[in-house]
Amino acid sequence: MTTPRICIVGGGVLGAAVAYHLCEAGCTNIVIVERTGIACGASGRAGGFLAKNWSDSKSVGQLSTASFLLHEKVAEKLRQEYNIDVMYRRVTTLNISLKEKTTTTPQRKSDTLPKWVTGDVFKEEILGTEATTAQVHPGLLTNGLVRVVESKGGRVLIGKANGFLFETITTHTEKDHHHQTAPVQASKLLLENQDPVEADIFILTLGPWTYQAATWFKDSVSFKPNISRQLDCIQGLKAHSIVFKGNQPTEPYAFFLNYVTSANGIIDPEIYPRPNGDIYVCGFGEQTTQNLPDDANHVSINETSCDKLKEIAIHVSSTLKDANVEVRQACYLPISPDGIPLIGKLYGLENVYIATGHSCWGILNSLETGHQLAQLIINGQVSPILNTCDPARFSKGS
Ligand SMILES: Cc1cc2nc3c(=O)[nH]c(=O)nc-3n(C[C@H](O)[C@H](O)[C@H](O)COP(=O)(O)OP(=O)(O)OC[C@H]3O[C@@H](n4cnc5c(N)ncnc54)[C@H](O)[C@@H]3O)c2cc1C
Ligand SMILES: *[C@@H]1O[C@H](CO)[C@@H](O)[C@H](O)[C@H]1NC(C)=O
Ligand SMILES: *[C@@H]1O[C@H](CO)[C@@H](O)[C@H](O)[C@H]1NC(C)=O
Ligand SMILES: *[C@@H]1O[C@H](CO)[C@@H](O)[C@H](O)[C@H]1NC(C)=O
Ligand SMILES: *[C@@H]1O[C@H](CO)[C@@H](O)[C@H](O)[C@H]1NC(C)=O
Repeated sequence: MTTPRICIVGGGVLGAAVAYHLCEAGCTNIVIVERTGIACGASGRAGGFLAKNWSDSKSVGQLSTASFLLHEKVAEKLRQEYNIDVMYRRVTTLNISLKEKTTTTPQRKSDTLPKWVTGDVFKEEILGTEATTAQVHPGLLTNGLVRVVESKGGRVLIGKANGFLFETITTHTEKDHHHQTAPVQASKLLLENQDPVEADIFILTLGPWTYQAATWFKDSVSFKPNISRQLDCIQGLKAHSIVFKGNQPTEPYAFFLNYVTSANGIIDPEIYPRPNGDIYVCGFGEQTTQNLPDDANHVSINETSCDKLKEIAIHVSSTLKDANVEVRQACYLPISPDGIPLIGKLYGLENVYIATGHSCWGILNSLETGHQLAQLIINGQVSPILNTCDPARFSKGS
């Protein structure tokens, strides 16, 4: 029995999760083509917060719930079978409100807050318990999944994909000469300054760079605008984050902030203490764009934004004053027009699949996305989730 040759383009958490599930299902002939490095983008710079079902859509809710449960199983498997720790744990999630300028003397803190929080919290709310929320280290998860794939014979190829070669399938279906509807498939992935990669199945997991692939379908394919529209609809949304290093308390909490600035504006950063004593802090959503630097390590960093995150974190916990901010970074999230991910076969091609547009829930939803896509590829199995996330919804002209 020969297993199909699979080429995954993009080594973020989505590419890693699809590769992992295909491997688990016995398809081990996998190459992951990654331009810069595994988890170099949002997948290595995210918070890694996981919620069982914070979605207000039914199908995406099913995706999140299934994925939430899978994270625990996969973390356990990676730890036991591969000695890989992805820092998975359940957490209590709090929404805490603070003012940038406090006029009154600090109140006595409520007992439900961990001692680590020293700031003057004027309102708090439990958003999730250890039954419904958790965290994982996204970079360790992505790299861990890839290591499993490599241990089963898969490989990573560092290179920039920049096109496809196509062929028309004439063996099984008769060509319709009037409408040129003979099925078309990709045969080779073209790389910059390297030999092309031949495969039976291609999967695009390009995250916020997905729009760049729209031009790969300009030539030699019928229905080309329909294909390109499914890629060109993706935008990148920039976000900054910082990581404090330094033996902070490791109590299992996640904090969503409601921070009232002196100018009476509201900002809502998130703070995730990690089990190794690091404190991760991120802000959200600055601007959407289709103008990303090729290299994820060349995303410009606004020091003012990082300084602000640092200042807010110190306001929440004064113990951070002496901690070293070791990481100051920015990256882009992949955003789809309707806020729902694109998971499935690209309309107009026989063997090219896509998984992207996961917005701020890509770490959470990666595992079930990988599972669903592997089932579709191997068994042709379509679920309600895949119906909702079908990329073909963007193939029609407006
Ligand atoms: C600040 C921040 C906090 C977040 N927090 C959370 C959270 O707590 N929980 C959660 O679930 N999600 C969170 N997210 C969202 C999550 O990080 C993303 O949804 C997810 O990482 C997207 O993964 P991806 O694999 O689609 O894209 P990416 O991680 O961007 O991966 C795409 C990869 O494709 C590669 N690539 C691009 N073009 C090419 C090419 N031409 N050839 C070869 N390779 C190419 C890139 O180099 C990159 O490695 C957060 C995001 C941010 C920015
Ligand atoms: C998730 O929540 C939404 C909205 O409350 C609901 O419609 C959906 O059924 C839930 N999904 C699951 C799997 O619980
Ligand atoms: C946190 O609380 C504030 C104030 O009550 C509220 O406006 C905000 O929506 C809450 N945030 C979340 C994530 O629930
Ligand atoms: C950096 O961010 C601050 C706000 O945090 C903003 O006022 C400023 O314009 C930004 N600078 C650049 C170069 O984008
Ligand atoms: C393909 O695109 C054309 C316009 O370019 C549109 O009229 C047609 O409906 C599309 N077909 C599908 C099935 O999306």
